[in-house]
Amino acid sequence: MLPAILQNLRIPVVASPMFIVSGPELVIAQCKAGIVGSFPALNAREKDGEPALLESWLTRITEELDRHNQANPDHPAAPFAVNQIVHRSNARLERDIEICHRHKVPIWITSLGARPEVNQAAHDCGGIALHDIINNMFAKKAIEKGADGLIAVAAGAGGHAGPQSPFALIQEIREWFEGPLLLSGSIATGRAVLAAQAMGADLAYIGSPFIATEEANAQPEYKQMICDAGAMDIVTSSLFTGVSGNYLAPSIRNAGLDPDDLDSADTSAMNFSQGASKAKAWSQIWGSGQGIGAVRDVVPAATRIDRLASEYADAKRAICG
Ligand SMILES: Cc1cc2nc3c(=O)[nH]c(=O)nc-3n(C[C@H](O)[C@H](O)[C@H](O)COP(=O)(O)O)c2cc1C
Repeated sequence: MLPAILQNLRIPVVASPMFIVSGPELVIAQCKAGIVGSFPALNAREKDGEPALLESWLTRITEELDRHNQANPDHPAAPFAVNQIVHRSNARLERDIEICHRHKVPIWITSLGARPEVNQAAHDCGGIALHDIINNMFAKKAIEKGADGLIAVAAGAGGHAGPQSPFALIQEIREWFEGPLLLSGSIATGRAVLAAQAMGADLAYIGSPFIATEEANAQPEYKQMICDAGAMDIVTSSLFTGVSGNYLAPSIRNAGLDPDDLDSADTSAMNFSQGASKAKAWSQIWGSGQGIGAVRDVVPAATRIDRLASEYADAKRAICG
């Protein structure tokens, strides 16, 4: 049984949080169009000495969605989610948890580390916590530490992808876990959303297709590259963050590197502190999952979601009768 907050979405989709790319414009558009929108707390970066930008983002999102709900009681917005990077280099974690707790964030997504106190903070303010994992061992640990649900990040996902086939990952987790389970990795069509459910997931977790939207905080060249590229243009490398991730090969070439001959880096290279120099150095290296062959144009997020919804309905009719 899904928690109430994840029921009644227009289609069973959570838009994933994306470093730099996801901000309030995209989240508000996704929620108004009926799917869960999300952003990483770390994207709200104020300058030294300025008030916390995360506060004003959360106020704006909550107020705009409230206004939408009052004007559209028959089509209320979906809830939103905030992603916390639970890594020792994230010096803001405690502050960001306190802000999200005070704003009663309804869905908390944790990555790169499962910590009971983050789950507790989500529960204390009436929210739920979903933790992203790349294998069954991490999935068990996340639930032991108090997460309510899991995001299975399979091969082909944008950002820090896992190495496992979605079939293997979902099947192993469903042997022991009946709670909310999301599938992440290369889902870009309504048909693929239905396939995720057929496999045993409750919801699809979709990132890269939302880079090619008007509301995404990405350079026009990045959006266009998503439209022009396909699965063969995606390379996996640990060089840029210290963890294996998927990137657009043409952006690596544009930065003067050979995508077929990249060094690797280990996890000691991971750094999520404010203004980390690596993040700046690699800002022209663009992340993407393998599913972008289905993305051909830059459109408003609502149009992308309308298409997903009608493809999902068509696929359901064709397969389920
Ligand atoms: C550009 C980019 C940035 C990402 N940044 C984050 C992040 O900050 N936090 C996080 O939990 N996941 C991040 N992800 C991973 C997504 O949450 C999700 O697992 C992935 O987008 C799903 O695969 P797809 O892109 O093929 O749909 C990122 C993905 C992309 C493409």
